[in-house]
Amino acid sequence: MKRIGMLTSGGDCQALNAAMRGVVKTLVHSGEEVEVYGFQDGYKGLIYCNFQMLTGSDFSGILTKGGTILGTSRTPFKMIDEPTPEGLNKVEEMKRNYTKLKLDCLVILGGNGTHKTANRLRQEGLNVVTLPKTIDNDLWGTDMTFGFQSAVDIATNAIDCIHTTASSHGRVFIVEVMGHKVGWLTLNAGMAGGADIILLPEIPYDVDKVIEKIEERDKKGCRFTIVAVAEGAISKEDAALSKKEYKKKLEKRKVSVSYELAEQILKKTGREVRVTVPGHMQRGGSPCPYDRVFASRLGAEAGNLILKGQYGFMVGYKNREIVKVSLEDVAGKLKYVDPDASIIKEAKLLGISFGD
Ligand code: F6P
Repeated sequence: MKRIGMLTSGGDCQALNAAMRGVVKTLVHSGEEVEVYGFQDGYKGLIYCNFQMLTGSDFSGILTKGGTILGTSRTPFKMIDEPTPEGLNKVEEMKRNYTKLKLDCLVILGGNGTHKTANRLRQEGLNVVTLPKTIDNDLWGTDMTFGFQSAVDIATNAIDCIHTTASSHGRVFIVEVMGHKVGWLTLNAGMAGGADIILLPEIPYDVDKVIEKIEERDKKGCRFTIVAVAEGAISKEDAALSKKEYKKKLEKRKVSVSYELAEQILKKTGREVRVTVPGHMQRGGSPCPYDRVFASRLGAEAGNLILKGQYGFMVGYKNREIVKVSLEDVAGKLKYVDPDASIIKEAKLLGISFGD
């Protein structure tokens, strides 16, 4: 008999349900008796011992369902040692509930912050297996996270839609894609959608270079320019500021980087600029077929690790193989777009500007 606690933490994404289904299906299929304790709304559910008992049938029919059947919330790692509003010690409560319910392990699905807390629980002696979810694809230790391909599809579709209206109007269109710290989503959706300019957090841009590209297109007789901008894109000027100064500037700015850029382009060129922000749509809806397969594979391996009693790992994807990666190695690291990566070079060969 295996008693498994399961939770989804942080921002949701597509294929969370598919991944959980993969874990439970694998365990049930092995013939092992399982009890699944589904903690509600992420770590919060574990802290307050708020759970529902789930059976195999609860995981039936959810392969294609977006969101998470467990609900999710953010429990920032930097506040993990601060007491709850009721004065509870979060880590101690999670340990206490784990022991009280006699759990064999926790299956934790989440992104970067979630992995820091999962690793902390491992250090505290709990058995943990994690699965890499996020539309940002920024988790270290895995070439791919589930949710990413689905979000690429949605963000690409947004750029595709903008393309048709852009060609009618001859304007500059900015599409703001999710990703505060890393630009994988913007880079992939931008290339898939045929964006002319792609601005990423990892490659600070010069607004004059952006305008240069727009004018170059004008001269060639192209009626419009499409700019894919990551939420966390940063100008060279801002990148030169200290962290504190930049934070202050962001507090003052109130609008996102796309609107700031739109205003600068308008001021400097007098051109009409429009901004589109698909926002949380990018995390919504049904997972794409790739993510359904991928999340199922990751879930199956997580189930396999549990059957073998191997804990302290994230199940990831490296060189086209499903692998286990030590949680200790994953926690606290981000997988950035390398400005010297071949995909950036190839994009530049295609004539895409990164504003650098
Ligand atoms: O981490 C995933 C993510 O979707 C980011 O791309 C985005 O910046 C952020 O979450 C949005 O968070 P929230 O749902 O808290 O607004």
